[in-house]
Amino acid sequence: MKVLVFGGSFDPVHQGHVSLFKKAVKMIRPDVSHIVPAYHSPFKAKSPTPFNLRMQMLKKAFAGCAKNIIFDDYELKRGGKTYTCQLIEYLKKRYKNPELFLLVGTDCLNDVHNWKNPHIIFNNATVIAGKRKGYNENPAQFKHIFLPGFFPKLSSSRVRAHILACGEIPPTVPAAVHPLIEKHRLYGLKIHDWLKEHLKTNRYIHSKSVAELAAVLSDIYNVNVESAVKAGILHDAGKGMSGQELIRFCQQHRIKTPFFEDICKLEPSLLHSYVSKWLARHLFGVKDKDVLNAVAEHTLGSLKMSTLSKILFVADISSKDRKYKDAFVIRNMALQDLDSALLYAANRKLLFTIDSQKWLCPLGIDLWNHLIKQEK
Ligand SMILES: [Fe+2]
Ligand SMILES: [Fe+2]
Repeated sequence: MKVLVFGGSFDPVHQGHVSLFKKAVKMIRPDVSHIVPAYHSPFKAKSPTPFNLRMQMLKKAFAGCAKNIIFDDYELKRGGKTYTCQLIEYLKKRYKNPELFLLVGTDCLNDVHNWKNPHIIFNNATVIAGKRKGYNENPAQFKHIFLPGFFPKLSSSRVRAHILACGEIPPTVPAAVHPLIEKHRLYGLKIHDWLKEHLKTNRYIHSKSVAELAAVLSDIYNVNVESAVKAGILHDAGKGMSGQELIRFCQQHRIKTPFFEDICKLEPSLLHSYVSKWLARHLFGVKDKDVLNAVAEHTLGSLKMSTLSKILFVADISSKDRKYKDAFVIRNMALQDLDSALLYAANRKLLFTIDSQKWLCPLGIDLWNHLIKQEK
């Protein structure tokens, strides 16, 4: 009895999962296949998509891919963290002398020997893996088979970041799954609904452009892509309010802002960064301090900017929708050297403020002096 098992978070399932599974089925010709979504506690900090929705998406994505598929809620029934060795033991009990095949991606393959009780896995199952281009390690310490050909570099976190940045589902998600994501407004579609309702069209387009550029820069500077996109899409959430509305909002919600009285009198639009941070935290449930700080600092900067803060500051001033010449210059600088781009962006912002005969917030001046000191 050949039993193929494929587990994972599948949050969401994507074409990489489907093509891996199809190739494995073609090669192994299993009598039965178990697709086993991981259970995650809804109380954990990073709450994923509910189990039943991930399961529904899997049923759509894998429909017709093999003759006998069991969409297995084993991990949901267990309720806690399930290790792969436990999954293997469960399948051994369920079938008499099964020939087990455990399907994994290349990333997992490098890590399999670090899993809990690896001997239980290796003694009872053959690991089947798909290779990505450029992968040439050969983990000979356990029984494994490589599927023929190479698999594209797809990941669920990339899919989530794409949807959050663009408000659209990429073609890397099977078409049959799209209606479920749309119906339940998953992976940030609710944020897009809100932004479309509360921001002018140009500002909404700008937010998407900033998220898109932040994603590109996050890859270059090793920042989590989902954090970068989250900061990008939400950074101007409060920008739909007038100056008076921003002031009232800050007072109502006791939002602490430096130089509040001066800002209220001279340039209330500066409050939108702090209001956006509040909205990100309280309306959209963002808990990541790095994301929240980046949103708060995107206009005036700070003396302790994280890499994500720098990325957002620079992406905001140089996103694709910005039409002035400097945007292009800063964007290209940022691809090479983030700190140089930040210095240039701070310079342009200050000069623009002076040219427009507007008040210079001391925070902007502090940032400039701090960056110059660092340069010297
Ligand atoms: Fe802004
Ligand atoms: Fe902006």
